[in-house]
Amino acid sequence: MTRLISALLLLLSSAPGFTAPADISVTDKVVIQRCVIDGPSARMIAVGFPGGFNYAFDAQNGAPVYVWQGGFVDFSGETLGRGGRKCEILGAKQSLGTATNPLRLKDPDSLPESIVFRGYRRNPDTGTPTFRFEVDGHLVEQSIGSPSEDTVQISLDFEHTNTGNKFYHLDSSKHEQVALSEGLRWHRPGVVAIPSRINKATLTISLRNVEEPYVRKTQQLSGAQLYSYYCRACHSNDGTNLIGPTFKNLFGRSQDVIRQDQTDTVIIDANYIRESITDPQAAIVKGYENVPMPSFATILSERDLEKLMEYFKNP
Ligand code: HEC
Repeated sequence: MTRLISALLLLLSSAPGFTAPADISVTDKVVIQRCVIDGPSARMIAVGFPGGFNYAFDAQNGAPVYVWQGGFVDFSGETLGRGGRKCEILGAKQSLGTATNPLRLKDPDSLPESIVFRGYRRNPDTGTPTFRFEVDGHLVEQSIGSPSEDTVQISLDFEHTNTGNKFYHLDSSKHEQVALSEGLRWHRPGVVAIPSRINKATLTISLRNVEEPYVRKTQQLSGAQLYSYYCRACHSNDGTNLIGPTFKNLFGRSQDVIRQDQTDTVIIDANYIRESITDPQAAIVKGYENVPMPSFATILSERDLEKLMEYFKNP
């Protein structure tokens, strides 16, 4: 059923006149979005891959901070000062266990004196970003990927081998396992040592299962948006009957339905509408026995139902 709904949503989003909700969704290319997002600095960048892998990167400190599966970000939040917009993650986020400043040169315990963000370049085929930094004057490139479900790979590329020993602070106790590429070793728990001669390093993190399901957060959509988003593929509001009956003059209309194999006539009210949405097979509109309506019981919140109800009074 979820598949059917996604297919319908896809169909809808390509239909002319469809107003997309405010979340930015990822289709076939990696999406990069600067926004004010929960994290250690004000310079966070959200990156979303097709297929539902997403991460947030702190550009000020050069650290991937967390990952999430599911939707990308909801951009409908209030506009904050400094030209930023607050955005919310659509999914269950997991910390990557990186320190605020994960990268250290020479001494694992002293913070770099300067970290200068040099922007990112994108892979021309996939759109994947590689972030570029100067850490105490040494150019470092960092990219993040998810080679398989539940694994995250952090790749580091140091421009020169004359940087000396390098260290990356990562709390592996947050994960199922962390595998290091050749030549790397644990300096101590939480600190990976990258020897001087090595200028390419990969840390492969196997994520723990999260309790929270990878669901989209409930979005604040208006009644009209909910209708466009979830119902319009099957229900018109102009009197035309599509796969389901029209919503025009829905309230107070008398309708023949089949309930428990018996024909019954109902006057449509809020209770009946509510039941039609959350338990659509309880009473089936006569003449529409062949195509079942999907249940929205787990998709729409109580607030969504109330908004839809308001919308039906005045579609
Ligand atoms: C895949 C198509 C489909 C989608 C999507 C769909 N419906 Fe339906 N709906 C139907 C069909 C078919 C019926 C008639 C059969 C029945 O009663 O189950 C129906 C019946 C109804 C009825 C009863 C109408 C009447 O005249 O008695 C209501 C109310 C309703 N739907 C509300 C909604 C709402 C609200 C949404 C969006 C949140 C929605 N539907 C999404 C197919 C759909």
